[in-house]
Amino acid sequence: MSHAEDHEGTRRDFLYYATAGAGAVTAGAAIWPLVNQMNPSADVQALSTIRVDVSGIEVGTQITVKFLGKPVFIRRRTAEEIEMARAVAVSDLPDQGAENANLPTGSLATDENRTLDENGEWLVMMGVCTHLGCVPLGDGAGDFGGWFCPCHGSHYDTAGRIRKGPAPTNLPIPNVEFVDESTILLG
Ligand code: FES
Repeated sequence: MSHAEDHEGTRRDFLYYATAGAGAVTAGAAIWPLVNQMNPSADVQALSTIRVDVSGIEVGTQITVKFLGKPVFIRRRTAEEIEMARAVAVSDLPDQGAENANLPTGSLATDENRTLDENGEWLVMMGVCTHLGCVPLGDGAGDFGGWFCPCHGSHYDTAGRIRKGPAPTNLPIPNVEFVDESTILLG
């Protein structure tokens, strides 16, 4: 499904839905080519901000949107995913930096510093492996229940933090905020 509408005559918003469920490990690979076919036109790619309607995202699912030519994962996490991420000590993480553009440099990679809302339900991050730039598989993939990049075996946890493999840093979080209860602004 896709959804597009005009804003202020110049801005168009794109929303792509992905479904979770059985066989989810392969979902990332299957979905990205589909999203790729629906690429926004060049003028839209050049926009420095986009709004995304997240009202249709169920708990335990995610969507991928394209922002500045790159995939962005928007996941609405389950209570179990939140609990798993919050149970991890920062000292156990290969990259202890939050890698969150919304926080000051030097902020720690606690789960609270990775998520968009206080409850930790919303995780928004670039869907680009920090090793060599592949798009990781999601929906519980990998050894840590988050994302897995099969290119060279990088495992990310449910907060998008690198836990095992060659990727040097956590999946980066772009500038993002809720502008109302069902809309987030990227950029
Ligand atoms: S690009 Fe992801 S592990 Fe190499």
